[in-house]
Amino acid sequence: MTDPLAGPAAALPAGPVEKLDPSVARWLDDEPAGEGALLTPAPASADSYAEALAKEEAAAGMLSRKERETKHGAEAAIEVEKLTKRFGSAVAVDAISFSVRTGETYGLLGPNGAGKTTLIRLLTTLLPPTSGTARVQRHDIRRGRSAVRRAIGTVSQAVTTDENLTVRENLSVQGKMYGLAGKTLATRIERRLREVGLWERQGQIAKELSGGMRRRLEIARGVLHSPQILFLDEPTTGLDPQSRRAIWEMFGDMKAANPKLSIVLTTHAMDEADYLCDRLAILDGGRILCEGTPESLKRGLETGERVEIETDRDISPADREAVLTLGARNFRSPAPAVAEFQSQPGEAIGRRAAQVLEERGYRVLHLTIAPVTLEDVFFSYTGRALRES
Ligand SMILES: Nc1ncnc2c1ncn2[C@@H]1O[C@H](COP(=O)(O)OP(=O)(O)OP(=O)(O)O)[C@@H](O)[C@H]1O
Ligand SMILES: [Mg+2]
Repeated sequence: MTDPLAGPAAALPAGPVEKLDPSVARWLDDEPAGEGALLTPAPASADSYAEALAKEEAAAGMLSRKERETKHGAEAAIEVEKLTKRFGSAVAVDAISFSVRTGETYGLLGPNGAGKTTLIRLLTTLLPPTSGTARVQRHDIRRGRSAVRRAIGTVSQAVTTDENLTVRENLSVQGKMYGLAGKTLATRIERRLREVGLWERQGQIAKELSGGMRRRLEIARGVLHSPQILFLDEPTTGLDPQSRRAIWEMFGDMKAANPKLSIVLTTHAMDEADYLCDRLAILDGGRILCEGTPESLKRGLETGERVEIETDRDISPADREAVLTLGARNFRSPAPAVAEFQSQPGEAIGRRAAQVLEERGYRVLHLTIAPVTLEDVFFSYTGRALRES
């Protein structure tokens, strides 16, 4: 491992399985056979787990499990409470609270400097918070650091695989850090390399891979030990559209193989957030501006779709009125034969307006209906474009 910040695994001692928590050692040994086996390990017995949990809760002085379940729902994989990180006088993460459900893909979307990486580093225990806390797979990030690290996989923003090792060697080193060895390790490596489409390249030196392949190797490494939660910091930044698409599809396959896998990813690409995330938070200046499903965030906008209709002749005031009564908002006529307005997504006013105009004797030359994007959502909260921030 060349980078000391390569991920939580880097800080874990290399060594035999028996050095690990017995509940972890059990699932490391318990390698499910065959294709499509679950990524998530079989849980430790309910009793020992509940006991350990109760102890941890008592030590942490936190809400009881029951209280938390009432608050967040029984299926929370991550619960973040007023998490704050200051660097000197600057606040990178400012009292952020949210929760991620088991099996959910949760996005942190925001411009450069929004605090995304800092938040990920706090949740993966690479940085201590200034105040507030979070629980990852029910382990407190302050008091249960090792347990958190074992439950998670991370793919950081930087390239952290060793460029002088082969694809296989990179995974082998990683596996050994988690106490994997022998046949178990070999099986895991094969499964992960097949999942990311790099099995045929196992003998290739990492620096000879393309950017997209290197990224896929990073991801294979992040999931090698079957984490229940995967943290991805900008998984596709800098990749060409084809590689981005391949990685998106790979996440889809991984979720299909293990519906309980929770993924937290950061991005400043709205299309990526839109495509991958079940829910997302839009971050700016260390704070969450809004949170919800991509669809609900877009629907929440006062005005959503932008409609432009060009006709073969000037639109009369009476006909303009007919379009307005459909519910068109912010109507303007940049030219006498053009109607521009906005509508709520899903209202289909654009099509109906074109129909109304045709019924009134116009010929529609152009009809453009542009769906709102998460970019518009960001703009509505900040008055700035995501990419210009
Ligand atoms: N170790 C550090 N010391 C001081 N300031 C830091 C440190 N790490 C991050 N910051 C500051 O915290 C803020 C948030 O940075 P962070 O890297 O979390 O942003 P980000 O959302 O990941 O941005 P990007 O999209 O560029 O990756 C920035 O203002 C950054 O300068
Ligand atoms: Mg970042």
